[in-house]
Parts: sequence; structure tokens; C-alpha cells
Amino acid sequence: MKLKKKLLALSSAIGLLLVILGLFAFKTDLNSDRGYVVPNDSWENLKVLPQDISKDSLEFLMNNYATSLGVKCNYCPAVIKKDPTKLDFPSDAKIEKEIGREMIKMTNEINAIYFQRHFPDPKPEQVNVFNCVFCHRGTANPEKYLSQMGAMYKTYDPDRDNRKEKFQEEMGK
Ligand code: HEC
Repeated sequence: MKLKKKLLALSSAIGLLLVILGLFAFKTDLNSDRGYVVPNDSWENLKVLPQDISKDSLEFLMNNYATSLGVKCNYCPAVIKKDPTKLDFPSDAKIEKEIGREMIKMTNEINAIYFQRHFPDPKPEQVNVFNCVFCHRGTANPEKYLSQMGAMYKTYDPDRDNRKEKFQEEMGK
């Protein structure tokens, strides 16, 4: 009987350990799925977000944007040519980043005008009621979930700026 109890205790301890290890594995997996590590905590080329934003807040926002659009970190910053497993975070080479900046301005304005007075003091300041996910719903191009709205829906003009296509060609997509 005693032995049975001991065995039971041992096997549940092992079970618990496995669950915990499993959770860690999942966590590492999530991070490696995002794929890229933010190398430091001083920012070289922030144009819309505040210069003094903390690393935590910046990563939180970026993860939020990526999840909202259903993309990985390499959707906006360009990769480093010599080592495509790394991102050139400050680079403005891709048009997605430029559009992203405008999107941040737009959501900030909508929050400031229509939401903030009813939901004061959000922390950090950029976490707001109205967010990218309200339109994007997990896709970079909201047209995808708007059935039969194609005719009403404008996508950005690739003739105006073909950096996106050039980048895709380079990446062999
Ligand atoms: C009011 C709706 C709306 C909100 C809110 C919004 N977006 Fe967008 N976003 C769009 C639309 C529409 C497009 C155009 C997609 C296309 O080109 O077909 C777009 C395009 C983009 C693109 C370019 C995608 C491409 O075609 O490669 C990026 C990047 C982007 N949004 C980022 C963001 C981020 C980051 C936020 C939050 C800060 C955000 N968006 C919030 C509607 C929105």
C-alpha cells in the first residue's frame, strides 16, 4: 500500500514536471516562431512611437501588431542581406513599415478622439481600446475576410511604390 502511494506520488510529480517542461517548450516555440530577437534597448529610427519607449512595451506592441496581422516580425523590417535569419530593425526599406507607421498614427488618433476620454490613463500609453485587430483580424489584407467587397475595396497602389514587390522578388516569393 505504502509503495503504491509512493509510486503514485512519484508519477504525479513526474507528470507535473512534464507539464511544466511542456509549457516551457511551448513558450520557446512561440518565441522562435516570431523568429527574431530585439538586439538592444536603444532605438535608432522610431518615427511614430516615443523614443523613450521601454523594450518591454516595444516588444509588446510589435507582438500585438504581428498577431493582429497574422504575420511574423519580418513583415515590416527588412532582413539583413548577409544573414537573412536576422532583421535590420531600423531599416525603412520595406513599404509595409511605412504603411504600419501611418496605421499607428491612425489608431492613435481614433483612440485620442473617440475613446480616451471615456477610458482614461491607459498604460502603456499606446495600448488602447481601438487596435489593429479591429480591422485586420489576423490578416495583413482585410479584404480577405470581407466577402464580395472586392469591388468596393481599395488596395494600395503598387505603381506608386514597388518596394514590396521588389522585396518579394528578392526573397524569391
Ligand atoms: C481602420 C481599419 C484598420 C486599422 C485599425 C489598421 N489597419 Fe492596417 N490596413 C488596413 C487596410 C484597409 C489596409 C490595406 C490592405 C491592402 O493593401 O490590401 C491595411 C494595410 C496595412 C499594412 C500593409 C499590408 C500590406 O499590404 O502589405 C500594414 C503593415 C498594416 N496595415 C499595419 C497595421 C497596424 C500595425 C495597425 C495597428 C497599429 C493597423 N494596420 C491598423 C486597415 C486598418
